[in-house]
Amino acid sequence: MKTLLIQTTKELINYRNSLPNDSIVGLVPTMGALHNGHKSLIEHSRKTDSHTIVSVFVNPTQFGQNEDFSKYPRNIDKDFKLCEESGVAVVFAPSANEMYLKNDEITLRAPKNMGYIYEGFIREGHFDGVLSIVLKLLHLSLPHHAYFGQKDAQQLLIVKRLVQDTFLPTKIIPCPTQRDPDGLAMSSRNIYLSDLQRKEALKIPAGLSRIAKAIKEGETKTSILIELAKIELTNLDVQYLDICDYNLNSITHIQKDSSIALIAAKVGQTRLLDNLWI
Ligand code: PAF
Repeated sequence: MKTLLIQTTKELINYRNSLPNDSIVGLVPTMGALHNGHKSLIEHSRKTDSHTIVSVFVNPTQFGQNEDFSKYPRNIDKDFKLCEESGVAVVFAPSANEMYLKNDEITLRAPKNMGYIYEGFIREGHFDGVLSIVLKLLHLSLPHHAYFGQKDAQQLLIVKRLVQDTFLPTKIIPCPTQRDPDGLAMSSRNIYLSDLQRKEALKIPAGLSRIAKAIKEGETKTSILIELAKIELTNLDVQYLDICDYNLNSITHIQKDSSIALIAAKVGQTRLLDNLWI
């Protein structure tokens, strides 16, 4: 199958309507600068779906005023090639004007609690922007499945709520975080790190490993788990470190299969996120 490059919403709707009724469609929403983490989302879809659509769109509404929207890495030729090699049916790479038609348009608000703590507290309005674009992408591609990385845990949980609260028929499929051999979670922003900063950044997975080890040894108290992680995180600009449930409420004791340890830290100017699904 030859990979199509589609740049307008109209063409994507026509493409979706042209697919046979028994097609199974998977959507992998991305902001481009594709790496092996994205590749693994695509591979999950390729195993399940007859047609994989990858969207490549650096969504302006999820960036704050002082964030890296203008310098966010963009390389559509490289992204297209990776998609082609991975058997993707469509790369949807629209312009901002294509996705946002009017200045004064209907907007979505993320849930008050889930959307405005952790990432949502530091990046106010971030999840409103994420939800607005994800809803549009789901409507345009009408996928059976949409694939989201567990690395962006808060995003994944909020998108699940979007689908649940608006009765969308798409199933959201969580995919495990991909790591480089040194343990750093893959992220498009890792390219901003110098060698020295990358070394500093490795304190983040080391902190999470401490938590995982202590849990394995029977520890359940979150205050103790957090103190253990802090031993690894010395001298790092940690923005938050917490253990919460799937509604993103802080908890005092972990519960298997319903808790997450979340970390965000700044290394130089680069914000890095990582987490441990417990
Ligand atoms: O995770 C991302 O890359 C973005 O937040 C998403 C889901 C593509 C929405 O712009």
